[in-house]
Amino acid sequence: MVTNNAMYFSQIHPERDRYVFGPGDTVVAFAQANNMRLRGHTLIWHNMLPSWVAEGKFTREDLAEILKSHITTIVGRYRGKIAEWDVVNEAIEKDGSLRDTFWRRNLGPDYIDQVFRWAHEADPDAALFYNDYDGEGLGVKSDGIYNLVKGMRERGVPIDGVGLQMHLRLEAPPNPKDVADNIRRLGALGLKVDITEMDVRVKLPATAEKLADQARVYSAILNASLSIPGFNALVLWGFTDRHTWITAKFPGYGAPLLFDEDYQSKPAHETMSKGLDRH
Ligand code: XIL
Repeated sequence: MVTNNAMYFSQIHPERDRYVFGPGDTVVAFAQANNMRLRGHTLIWHNMLPSWVAEGKFTREDLAEILKSHITTIVGRYRGKIAEWDVVNEAIEKDGSLRDTFWRRNLGPDYIDQVFRWAHEADPDAALFYNDYDGEGLGVKSDGIYNLVKGMRERGVPIDGVGLQMHLRLEAPPNPKDVADNIRRLGALGLKVDITEMDVRVKLPATAEKLADQARVYSAILNASLSIPGFNALVLWGFTDRHTWITAKFPGYGAPLLFDEDYQSKPAHETMSKGLDRH
């Protein structure tokens, strides 16, 4: 499972001298009680920044110190309890270049290397991931991600894997063969590849035909990925259509997950289960 909202910067560290660990501790305890592997999400992102950071007017040195202490505190607190961390989220632009974010502007372009090193110091056993969207198949953005992580490997930065978010739109899924090729080239760098946030949104109304198509998209991605060296996990961004970010974020779309709003199994759930059984 994933920490979802509990560990966004603004949630867990809303003021300079105040951390809010309650929700994170609850998720960690739940995962432990139920023997679930837990993914921490996410240390560095351009979203979910608290205003004390974004509007703080810190010097570069101060900000580096703040960030180091943030990462050390959180990763250290959950050391041994969070198996994977999404260390940096969405740092590459559509055109494959490094995104112009608050962190890049204020810390310089090598901030990514630096934060992976801090996270590794805080928990040497956690697997550290770079995580992004729209870079699942082949293209300029996935080339940008590939080049970023290849450079990190060459520089000896402690990165263990790449997360492919896989937020798909039923009308425009990536070509499964491209996804397989992308996983293969990332795996060849010695990295793990996780599908980290899969959902497949449907233009409403979600007819039986659309849900059958959705099942085909889910299983095509699963089947294309399963046997590729490096492929490590497929994580869904929720499980019931009753609770999903899609309805608020993409008006007119919905029904992206494997169970419907009444917690009933959908065709995508059937085909995914069969795909896993066959493997
Ligand atoms: C979504 C979440 O579901 C929300 O709870 C939160 O409001 C932010 O948006 N890429 C990510 C996730 O890495 O953190 C985002 O989560 C979806 C896109």
